[in-house]
Amino acid sequence: MQIDNETRILGSIAGNQSNLGTTMHNAVYEAMGLNCVYLALNVKNVKNAVEGLRALNFRGSAVSMPHKQGVMKYLNEINPIAKKIGAVNTILNENGILTGYNSDWTGAIDALKEKTNLENKKVALIGAGGAARAIAYGLKKSKSKVVIFNRTVEKAKELAKEFDLEFGGNIENFKKIQDYDILINATSIGFYPQSNKSIIEKDQLKENKIVMDIVFKPLETLLLRYAKSKNCITIPGYRMLIYQALFQIKLWTNKKAPFEVMEKALLTVLK
Ligand code: ATR
Repeated sequence: MQIDNETRILGSIAGNQSNLGTTMHNAVYEAMGLNCVYLALNVKNVKNAVEGLRALNFRGSAVSMPHKQGVMKYLNEINPIAKKIGAVNTILNENGILTGYNSDWTGAIDALKEKTNLENKKVALIGAGGAARAIAYGLKKSKSKVVIFNRTVEKAKELAKEFDLEFGGNIENFKKIQDYDILINATSIGFYPQSNKSIIEKDQLKENKIVMDIVFKPLETLLLRYAKSKNCITIPGYRMLIYQALFQIKLWTNKKAPFEVMEKALLTVLK
């Protein structure tokens, strides 16, 4: 990678960085011959970080936990979809005007569409946090029939009402539904190092369904292992992670990045 005075700088604003984003993004820039570099920024004060992007003329930034909501008030504009979802995970800088976008919803939908069409499919969505909100938006747009479950039922109720979806109750209530096509875990349960946990127990899973987990570490979560043993089609979280990053690259560079290059780079870190 050659860095010179023309190099465009991309950042990643997060509270707790890993080398995942830098590995995925820089591998793709290198392969595409783009004069861009992606830097992991450990951020405590998000206001100062946003001012820094502007002052140093970053082309954009990814935004991760815990700043996806907090960053919004410091941007010049929020794309209407990100506003509806209520979270920004991508910033684009156009001549000092910073606009917030959300690529999680499209990442999730692209990952699902590798395995299924979504129109009229009955989806059990577990979770009501930022990721679940993005997925709920994408599923609604794709005309799926979504039922939402969450530990904190009030949040699920609110989300269901806001996006005109069905409210399922708490996670225990998931046991009672018989007729879903797709199950999505949009909670953080099962994330490394708590890889021995699954939001749904094996005996509650039905045979021959589609199961997606947003958890990308480990590559195969306990939930997905259970699902495989029930003959389900599984969609690991890393596919959503890649698709949402490809959307970011398109936004920043106007170029379509190769999925396989990013996948190869990401798997070297996650394996
Ligand atoms: P994100 O932006 O990644 O979605 P979040 O907004 O903190 O993160 O949401 C985390 C989700 O995981 C929520 O649905 C949360 O449930 P609550 O709304 O009840 O907090 C869910 N979650 C986290 N820990 C959980 C646990 N131990 N059991 C069940 N659900 C859990």
